[in-house]
Amino acid sequence: MTSNTSKTGFNSSFGAIMAAAGSAVGLGNIWRFPYICGKYGGGAFLLVYIFFVFFIGMVLMMSEFVIGRRSKEAPIRAYATLCPKHTSWKLVGLLGLITCFLILAIYLVISGWTLNYFWESLTGTLSSIPINGFKLHFNTFASSAVRPAVFIVAFLIFTFLVIVGGVQKGIERVSKLLMPILVVLLIVMCVRSLTLEGASEGVAYLFNPDFTKLTGEGVLAALGQALFSLSVGMGVMIVYGSYLPVDDNILKTSMWITLCDFFIAVLSGVAIFPAVFACGQEPTGGPGLVYEVLPVVFQSFGGLGTVFATVFFLLLSLAALTSAISLLEALTAWLNKNGMRRFSAALLISVLVVFLSIAASFAYGDADNAKTSLSNGIWYDIKIAEMSIYEFLDKLTGTYLPPICAFLTIIFFGWVMKKEDIMDELSNHGTVKIGYFNVFYYFLVRFVAPVALLVVLVAGIIK
Ligand code: TRP
Repeated sequence: MTSNTSKTGFNSSFGAIMAAAGSAVGLGNIWRFPYICGKYGGGAFLLVYIFFVFFIGMVLMMSEFVIGRRSKEAPIRAYATLCPKHTSWKLVGLLGLITCFLILAIYLVISGWTLNYFWESLTGTLSSIPINGFKLHFNTFASSAVRPAVFIVAFLIFTFLVIVGGVQKGIERVSKLLMPILVVLLIVMCVRSLTLEGASEGVAYLFNPDFTKLTGEGVLAALGQALFSLSVGMGVMIVYGSYLPVDDNILKTSMWITLCDFFIAVLSGVAIFPAVFACGQEPTGGPGLVYEVLPVVFQSFGGLGTVFATVFFLLLSLAALTSAISLLEALTAWLNKNGMRRFSAALLISVLVVFLSIAASFAYGDADNAKTSLSNGIWYDIKIAEMSIYEFLDKLTGTYLPPICAFLTIIFFGWVMKKEDIMDELSNHGTVKIGYFNVFYYFLVRFVAPVALLVVLVAGIIK
């Protein structure tokens, strides 16, 4: 078993990129991005999204990497180390970790669904369902008590085992293996989707800019999606930053991770929408798209449909796994740095999070279900602020906490940390030339990113 005295850190820059890209690429890319991109005007949304991803998301990622590598600490202590005078900045680290915990809880629910669908595709259950029965099938499954909980636990066990394996032998090794597999599987799905008759309508839906659909809400959604998709603002990248090799070029590494995350999101759209349109299905959003519409699409492929369904849900499970790993690692690293053994730390967090996750799963449901024959989870009626536990977690982690954490992090970075320290770390103590980039970067850090985040926050709260 690895102990907290073993050397921790990634072995190579490539390993670091794969691990961080593994964190970034997840359900957010494959499940969420295509749907909101289509909903808010396709190409028009994409333009705004590109701006946020590269000018705010990537800037935050670099900032977290600098905080992590400079302090060599997990969040909370990282802030205290870099700013010993005002230790209340530690609270930002704490809030980030709480957010990671809550995100992990809800992430596990959806990952559990995905794993179940992978299992059902593999065993042929999914292909035996009549074409109009998928909505009922998903609803019956997600609102039942035992089966989703079993898959949550199974998924968490995989995540736990990787964390216990350690940073190099667990996270880095698994990411180096899974990320390339994921890209290959995704390309296979894209080729299949694009070669279907009528595919062009889906491509148009995804890319044709429709500025009338790009509302204020769409712009906010773009920033929220950029933060979530790149896993930034919550301290996960501080932890990964503390594992970066000392001679790693932070700008280059962040650029690769960001490009990888962006292209996988776009490719997911290409894999999904042309196929959805080619089958005459509606591009609905939320859980419906992946768990209710796509199975219909796969079934229309005939015999090969089962193979493609299995490949797709495997792809989604793997993407979710490397993201869940990063969330559990952030929490484990924090306890580990405070003296707890890695194994015990990961176990403690896992046991705590599984209760919340199963509670959220029990509370899954939809107000509309009461009007139809569809059912809700057994705890759907327990309300916090008029929301079920599931909806409450979803709102907190989807709308409020990420921009708050991201805003506080960037304020710390731009206005509290010393500029010389930042530039020293970015240039690897002067060995990497960053030229005029530092002026541009610092402008983004100090002004553009905080203002954009503040606007999102205020707009999100007023709404
Ligand atoms: N980025 C992942 C996704 O797109 C989710 C994720 C993993 C995440 N770690 C995170 C989000 C940390 C915010 C913070 O699915």
